[in-house]
Amino acid sequence: MKPDVYIKKIPIWYGSNPSSKIQSRYAAKFRDKIARNLYGIDDLQIQYGNKGKPFFINSRLCFNVSHSCRMVCVVFYDKPVGIDIEYIRPRKMMDQLASRYFHKDELCKFKSLDNRIEYFYRIWTRKESYLKFLGIGVGGNLKKYSTEGKPKNDGKDVIIVSYVKGSYYISYTYQD
Ligand SMILES: CC(C)(COP(=O)(O)OP(=O)(O)OC[C@H]1O[C@@H](n2cnc3c(N)ncnc32)[C@H](O)[C@@H]1OP(=O)(O)O)[C@@H](O)C(=O)NCCC(=O)NCCS
Repeated sequence: MKPDVYIKKIPIWYGSNPSSKIQSRYAAKFRDKIARNLYGIDDLQIQYGNKGKPFFINSRLCFNVSHSCRMVCVVFYDKPVGIDIEYIRPRKMMDQLASRYFHKDELCKFKSLDNRIEYFYRIWTRKESYLKFLGIGVGGNLKKYSTEGKPKNDGKDVIIVSYVKGSYYISYTYQD
């Protein structure tokens, strides 16, 4: 099994810029509908790890969700997995954020590009999905590793897949 990613746009009647609470509720409903209908999970009770990573109490199926602007995405896998989606838009302080969080190799490439915006979101979502895979939230030292290199978990390589879909960058992280 490989991770399966599902993406859905929040309908416009929720507003053109729904609050994160609305995004969150919509994402949970979307997750539950897929878990029930495609994976046959009837007991959808959720519990949270000590850094807030949610999981099903009574199923071994792993998932992770992410939301940005009007888009929600959820990934399912039979092992730990993390996902991040970001709306690609110019952002104030992008250079400062990159200097603060990117590994020196990532920063060097970022600075070399004329159009930095897409690469910024590539690295941002890769880092975020890796943290969410580990389940450690913002606790990790983001500068310490390059997501373009070979990040590891328990001595084994992790796989980070990234792509652009419309105006969004998506990355997800898992291990074989
Ligand atoms: C909370 C965090 C896990 C994700 O935050 P985010 O990018 O704002 O939000 P996303 O939409 O991608 O993900 C939110 C979902 O992740 C899940 N989640 C929460 N804590 C989690 C954790 N520790 N591990 C994995 N998943 C987690 C929840 O399902 C949450 O959904 P909810 O908000 O509907 O409850 C955390 O990593 C964070 O705050 N990051 C902030 C930014 C940062 O410094 N990034 C640097 C990247 S270079």
